[in-house]
Amino acid sequence: MCGIVAYIGKKEAYPILIKGLKRLEYRGYDSAGISLVNQGLKVYKCKGKVSDLEGFAAGKDISGSVGIGHTRWATHGEPNDVNAHPHFSGNENLAIIHNGIIENYDSLKKELIQRGHTFKSDTDTEVLIHLIEDVQANENLPLAEAVRVALTQVIGAYAIAVLDKNDPEVIIGAKKGSPMVVGLGKDEYFLASDATPIVEYTKDVVYLEDEQIVELRPGHEIKIRNIENEVLTPYIQELELHLEALEKGGYEHFMLKEIFEQPKSIADSMRGRFHVESSDVSLGGIIDYEQKMATAKRIIIVACGTSWHAGLVGEYLIEDLARIPVEVEYASEFRYRNPIVHEDDVVIAISQSGETADTLAALELAKSKGATIIGVCNVVGSSISRITDAGSYTHAGPEIGVASTKAFTSQVTVLLLMALRLAHKKGAIPESRFQRILAALEKIPQQVEETLKSAALVEHISAEYKDARNFLYLGRGYNFPVALEGALKLKEISYIHAEGYPAAEMKHGPIALIDEEMPVVVIATSKGSYEKVISNIQEVKARKGKIIVVVTKGDKTAAELADHVIEIPETEEELVPILASVPLQLLSYYIAVMRGCNVDQPRNLAKSVTVE
Ligand code: AGP
Ligand code: GLU
Repeated sequence: MCGIVAYIGKKEAYPILIKGLKRLEYRGYDSAGISLVNQGLKVYKCKGKVSDLEGFAAGKDISGSVGIGHTRWATHGEPNDVNAHPHFSGNENLAIIHNGIIENYDSLKKELIQRGHTFKSDTDTEVLIHLIEDVQANENLPLAEAVRVALTQVIGAYAIAVLDKNDPEVIIGAKKGSPMVVGLGKDEYFLASDATPIVEYTKDVVYLEDEQIVELRPGHEIKIRNIENEVLTPYIQELELHLEALEKGGYEHFMLKEIFEQPKSIADSMRGRFHVESSDVSLGGIIDYEQKMATAKRIIIVACGTSWHAGLVGEYLIEDLARIPVEVEYASEFRYRNPIVHEDDVVIAISQSGETADTLAALELAKSKGATIIGVCNVVGSSISRITDAGSYTHAGPEIGVASTKAFTSQVTVLLLMALRLAHKKGAIPESRFQRILAALEKIPQQVEETLKSAALVEHISAEYKDARNFLYLGRGYNFPVALEGALKLKEISYIHAEGYPAAEMKHGPIALIDEEMPVVVIATSKGSYEKVISNIQEVKARKGKIIVVVTKGDKTAAELADHVIEIPETEEELVPILASVPLQLLSYYIAVMRGCNVDQPRNLAKSVTVE
């Protein structure tokens, strides 16, 4: 899941690489390193963050206008200085950075050891650069060709950039399974895992496809070949990304900025997709597949983490409104459990990054079985958005904080629009209900704004519970996925153990955990199974648990039972997850900050999980 960045041109490479790595740090932060062409190859690398690398490189010779940089999320070999990328070849003529996993590294390594290679690190990546060196030496090939031939022997996923001391005017890149984008400037090229390190220098980019190898030489056209050595014509696209979206804009953390951006991001997800007056919804990206979706015998949603939680809300929405059976699957389970997929199934993948390896593989499996595949992605041009038959972008803008917030509320918004469109097309929804939901949806951005006003109250509550060791989150119906998502947010950034449960399931086990030490967050909004949830709150109270409720404005019953009350504005039941998730995001944020945790870059995690 590492981030890779490379530069070749006339400017000093080091500042471009460091800035790029900081943008990519969301992808991993176990170690960081760079290599510069500078009278030979220099490699500077160390355990820790990009800021540690800056400290390490201070005072050293960092000049050079050709270089590669890496920020690591370790898969093979512990996060330490030696395993940090870039890795040298044995003769130290070549240096490589790599994102992905070389699955057959062990057998390749054994062969290479027999041929006299010695290895310094425990990584799979180092095997790859020795293999390239071996091919280059034995077959006397130029670098690009040596990389291509070496990659024919590799099983696994990679996005790589390679430098050669003996050919200092070139960077070779290649990808399979991990993302890679090339930026085309004037007499200069950039290469990176995503467009964020590139956007301030050029808007012209080429997204590489799997098994393509790119040769970047300033003053020469970009050259792309596939692994079969066929020359390909590059497809140059214009970036739509804006630089301001990548900055913190005065907030202490990206996560807080992204929480507070939700009135806008949700409005952006809906923009142009419905008009209350014309009483319809239109999602341009899926228009040609609506009929197929509306008549599908079954929809399968595949996703991971927070996106999976959005998928659960999607299941409730699509079944409730459009009356199409829906199954929600963890992509990682689906891909390996030999699932039954028919040609008339529609598989929807939900992914903020559009790069999650398990989700991508689940889609590929569904595609190979003939199903129609649809994407709900945030990152435009991402791998998932490119392999799907059709899809709807969430348009939430770049999400940098590792904990997903605005992407979730936008995913739910888009899934609601999808459910409404399918319901309308099928005639499965009474016009009055359709109208009611649309009218409520129009008010949502304003109501999220209102909900955000509870930030100070939530911060106050957070102070009381910041030292808790466990948390329980309960909800029913549409609020059950909200409970799961609230618990995930808390555990991933504050490292407090938290469980989300359907409120009624509590009595089948988790109730045993409740004592006066246990904070229980209950989403008890006025519609749905409100009375039943009240009974669940009573059950917690009877066992002296501490109760924090999220209720509809003006609520009395739940509020009287609870220790703390957070109100959200009244809306239709189908829309409650959007509003109710906001205070839970804030709760996890403030608790994590009070515990001194690194909110934007929680330990062991990465934003974009491009390994399985
Ligand atoms: C969310 O806070 C998590 N960091 C994580 O669960 C995330 O949602 C998951 O990895 C899926 O990512 P995707 O949406 O980019 O596919
Ligand atoms: N497998 C490589 C390593 O562990 C790269 C990891 C990754 O891309 O996440 O160093």
